[in-house]
Amino acid sequence: MKVLVINGSPRKDRGHTGGILSHFIEGMKEAKADVDIIYSKGLDIGDCRGCFNCWTNTPGKCIQDDDMTEVLAKMADSDILVLATPVYVDGMTGSLKSLLDRSIPLLHGRFELRNDHCRHPRRAYAKAEKLALVSVSGFTEMDNFDPLIVHVKALSKNMGCEFVGSLLRPYAWMLDPAQEQGAHVSDIIEAIKQAGYELVSEGTMKEETLAAVAREIIPRDEVIKRMQGYFGDK
Ligand SMILES: Cc1cc2nc3c(=O)[nH]c(=O)nc-3n(C[C@H](O)[C@H](O)[C@H](O)COP(=O)(O)O)c2cc1C
Repeated sequence: MKVLVINGSPRKDRGHTGGILSHFIEGMKEAKADVDIIYSKGLDIGDCRGCFNCWTNTPGKCIQDDDMTEVLAKMADSDILVLATPVYVDGMTGSLKSLLDRSIPLLHGRFELRNDHCRHPRRAYAKAEKLALVSVSGFTEMDNFDPLIVHVKALSKNMGCEFVGSLLRPYAWMLDPAQEQGAHVSDIIEAIKQAGYELVSEGTMKEETLAAVAREIIPRDEVIKRMQGYFGDK
């Protein structure tokens, strides 16, 4: 089972998205997945020019010769695609969005009806059947993920992938300090690993596992006090 993880955090593996992913990937590897990870930040990926050459003159191929050629090959060759991003202004990061804009060569330009909805057919060699979201936020409330989830569910449908769930960790920045201060968060880390294991072995992540990942670490009033202490009125 091949899994391609695309981490959209500009802080790559040093960020909270990367921290969560390290446990998630551990779980996926325990379930014997062959996991590849790429970071959208730092790749040479130009913005989509909207020329539609990939649907006309050079079918399946973008006219831009950059790192996206290799990313497209990896996307086409994966069984499961994991999109990982911090919530940025209520959505995904810019570099991840730019990368996804450039993924349309994996589709044909013509329309077909799927479940009474116009979609582009996938090219035969694009095999990813499932797509999952991993995200972290700064704020505490789960509804901060809502616009991102709606977006990723919609793009899954357009890419012809089954959306298999979202692993979400609100105020993920609290995990490390909580651990340093002796708070018990090992269950959260274990649940992240378990979610990775489930995704590969069962093709989905259990509701209770995802709830365990997102559980409260400290009450919201204390979170607000901490942020005041950290950023003050600067
Ligand atoms: C430009 C920017 C926009 C952000 N927008 C949101 C937001 O809309 N909602 C939210 O909960 N957190 C927001 N955050 C906080 C990030 O989601 C949070 O810091 C996250 O842990 C960063 O992940 P990383 O360490 O992997 O980069 C934003 C952070 C930045 C830098």
